Amino acid sequence: PQTLGTLGQKAGLRIGTAVNATALAEDAPYRAKVAGEFSSVTAENAMKWEAVEPQRGTYDWAAADELVDFAKKNRQLVRGHTLVWHSQLPAWLNNGDFTAEELREILHQHITDQVTHFKGKIWQWDVVNEAFNEDGTLRDSIWLRKLGPGYIADAFRWAHEADPRARLFINDYNIEGVNAKSTALHELVTGLREQRVPVHGVGIQGHLGVQYSAPHDIADNMLRFDRLGLETAITEADVRIPMPADSTELEAQAEGYGVLLRGCLLTPGCNDFTVWGFTDTYSWVPDTFPGQGAANIFDADYAPKPAYSTLRQTL
Ligand code: XIL
Repeated sequence: PQTLGTLGQKAGLRIGTAVNATALAEDAPYRAKVAGEFSSVTAENAMKWEAVEPQRGTYDWAAADELVDFAKKNRQLVRGHTLVWHSQLPAWLNNGDFTAEELREILHQHITDQVTHFKGKIWQWDVVNEAFNEDGTLRDSIWLRKLGPGYIADAFRWAHEADPRARLFINDYNIEGVNAKSTALHELVTGLREQRVPVHGVGIQGHLGVQYSAPHDIADNMLRFDRLGLETAITEADVRIPMPADSTELEAQAEGYGVLLRGCLLTPGCNDFTVWGFTDTYSWVPDTFPGQGAANIFDADYAPKPAYSTLRQTL
């Protein structure tokens, strides 16, 4: 029988999911679905800085290594997520009082150590995550504040040195359509390419909600990155619903997933469509957006929702 993964193969792209490390270890039906349905995986949290280096200089790769081994066994590719972000940083880093020079060396070391640890095992790295504000200015973060905007080019150069074969992405949300944020990102990557900075792809997260209009201009947006010679991917698709969800909302949700997938299919260089979790059981949405949920393509009993059929039919 066809899975999302095998259907994606015919369309020339990987179909992935974010993976919850605890569920992978403890929930057998969950593990079976990850293995059976998908052709790429992303660690939902296990490769974030706070997870891999909770104490300065003390690495814990266990959960991330588990996932990488699992993926290898199941012939799945791995998206590495993420190296430079303002969020989920370890306390020692958030609370530390470092000079610019020290912080630059900490970042260099982190990228080098992490990319080297996984060298040859990661298909695409989300090197820089969520660097922009909605108005297209760069987001205020310890990186921007202390290192200036050059931290972005540095991060890509350091990652490329550590694993020259990994495909290096910049990733963000609310950049599905043509807007101030996606346009600023387009300008940034244009400049980086002109300076021969090793950036290879743009990741479009794809966190939607049924109460907002779907990004029907997604192909216009993705194709302008394509024209720069960049790869693209939908990296974190989900479509949240104000709870409780009714059948109209589940249909609207299916359409949201369809819009995202079609954007990818219409873009020659789009090579991965990843959902941010596949079952409502482990979704990040209820914790982050109180009163909203049911954002995934399978329900809490692993029964397929309309969105799952839409993805299959669209592929
Ligand atoms: C989320 C995880 O899903 C949650 O479990 C965690 O508590 C917070 O982060 N954009 C990203 C992801 O790039 O890393 C975020 O993941 C969701 C938004």
